[in-house]
Formats: sequence, C-alpha cells, structure tokens
Amino acid sequence: MKVVVTRGIFPEVVESLARRFDVEHNAEDRPWSPEELARRLRGASGAMATVMDKFDEPTLAQCPDLKVISNIAVGYNNIDLAACKQRGIRVTNTPGVLDDTTADLTWSLLMAAARRIAEGDQYVRAGDWKIAFGVQYFLGQDIHHATLGIIGMGRIGQAIARRASGFDMRVLYNNRSRLPEADEKRLDATWVERDRLLRDADFVVVMAPYSAATHHLIGAPQIAMMKPTAILVNSARGGVVDDAALVEALRAKRIAGAGLDVFEGEPKVNPGFLDLKNVVMTPHIGSASRATRIVMCNTAAANMTAVLEGREPPNPVN
Ligand code: DGY
Repeated sequence: MKVVVTRGIFPEVVESLARRFDVEHNAEDRPWSPEELARRLRGASGAMATVMDKFDEPTLAQCPDLKVISNIAVGYNNIDLAACKQRGIRVTNTPGVLDDTTADLTWSLLMAAARRIAEGDQYVRAGDWKIAFGVQYFLGQDIHHATLGIIGMGRIGQAIARRASGFDMRVLYNNRSRLPEADEKRLDATWVERDRLLRDADFVVVMAPYSAATHHLIGAPQIAMMKPTAILVNSARGGVVDDAALVEALRAKRIAGAGLDVFEGEPKVNPGFLDLKNVVMTPHIGSASRATRIVMCNTAAANMTAVLEGREPPNPVN
C-alpha cells in the first residue's frame, strides 16, 4: 500500500512506516501546491499531512484510493469533513500530546508582549541602549495578580489556566459548554459571558478552533471592549481574530499589545503588524518542541496505520 507523508518529518518515523508501507516522503519539505498534492496522492491509500495541506472536494476527487488522512496536528480545519464522509475517508488528528507545549508557547507570547521582551531585545541589538537605567524605560504590564481571560477552555485552554496559579492570577473563561464544577474548582477558573471576559481581563487568550462559527470571533467590536492596558494572545488559528481590526487597534493603542503565533493567510502576515512595536510574533510554532513533534508524528503514524490495517484509529475525527 502506498502512503504519502506530505512534509519533512523525522527519519525514524518514516523508517518505521516503511516497514509496512511503500512511503513517499516529502523529505525536502517543500510545500506542495494543491495540484502537486493531488498528483502525489494518486494511488495512495493514506496521507500523513499538516494543517497547510488542503483536502477539499476537488483534491479528494483526484485521489479515489485514499482511505485515511492523518493530520499531524490537533486542528483539522484544512480538511473538508463532509466531503471525506461522503467518500468514506477516515480523518484522524493528534489531540492531547501537544497541550502543554502549546500552553508554554502561549505563555511565552503573553509574557513577551506584557514585558516588551522582543522590543527590548531589538533595542539592545540595535545599539540604541545608551543610558544604563531609566525609571521609565520599557514600562510594561504586570502579569502577577492580573486577570487572565481564556476563550476556548478545551485541553489547551485548561493547560494555560493551570499555569496561571503560579502568578496568583484570577482566571476567567468562556467556552461553549461550561466545565464541570470539579474542573472549575481544580483550575480555579470562573465561567463568564464573553463580553464580560473581554471587559475584565488584563490578558485575553484565544484558544478556540477555527470554523465558520469562530471566524473573526475577535473583531473590532470585541477589541473595543478590552481595557486599554490589555493584551491579546492568539495561538489558536488564523482567522479566529480579525487581523486587520487588530492592526488598527494596536496602531491606535486601543489595547496595549498582542502576542500572535497564527495569522490569517499565513505564511503571509498582515503588513500592518510589521512596523508595530506592541506586537510579538512567532511563525505558527505552538507545538514545536522536538519532543512533542516526535510524539505528534508517531501518533499520526499510528492513526494512519490502524485505519489501513482495518483497526479503529486511536484518534478518530470522523
Ligand atoms: C495544531 O496541532 O493544530 C497546530 O496548529 C499545528 O499544526
């Protein structure tokens, strides 16, 4: 059976797949166009893919042998699930294994934006640091004892909340469904309406998956509710935040700053962000620690193998 690994992954995972399958591996890690993806998938039974590979109906129509798409990601907004269902294609993902790593990165962005780390780093490198100390140099926002608002309290949102206790923070959250009381207690987190969260939080972290329902969940009206001292962090998905509205708000200093790991239309970034000092940006690296990415690849390989061997995959999406 032929399987395709659409991006460069760890050789040991490819070797282990090659014991069972005829593997085509994009070892050079050059992103394939939709046409090339469809061409390479011809005759393949399985695809191990990333969120950058779009599996829409026109692509799927060209891959009649495909039985499973195994995303190396927890998110799967790159896949048309309805089209997969119609074609009997199983979809799998890698939930759970990346929660802590993504929570760590989210906190890194929060702290970097609050304490102006990237801006300070650039200042030192540029040789602009001429007077050793200034009482009013690089004043930022306190993290400790502040209010953290988390929109989207799934596994990653909860991992973010857990980290807040070390900073003596008050944690508010908003989620489609409220957590059981025991979990709220354990996390010391209070459910509030989204508007209240936006108004009360010093740090607003967005952790909702992208879908038609969450498109521009945070736009100009929501940003307008935030405190002028507040910081917005998005390490969920591009499109959950309206980037153009955020550029405007940051430019006008309607909020104090932002930390962003994901963008609308990435790898293209709204050029408005580039000359703003009050935004810290990383290139979609939420789960990018070596250890976690290896586990993600092994999980995706196990999912794909299970489907192709006729077993139920450990992490089915459909
Ligand atoms: C995910 O797991 O969804 C991350 O965004 C990496 O693709």
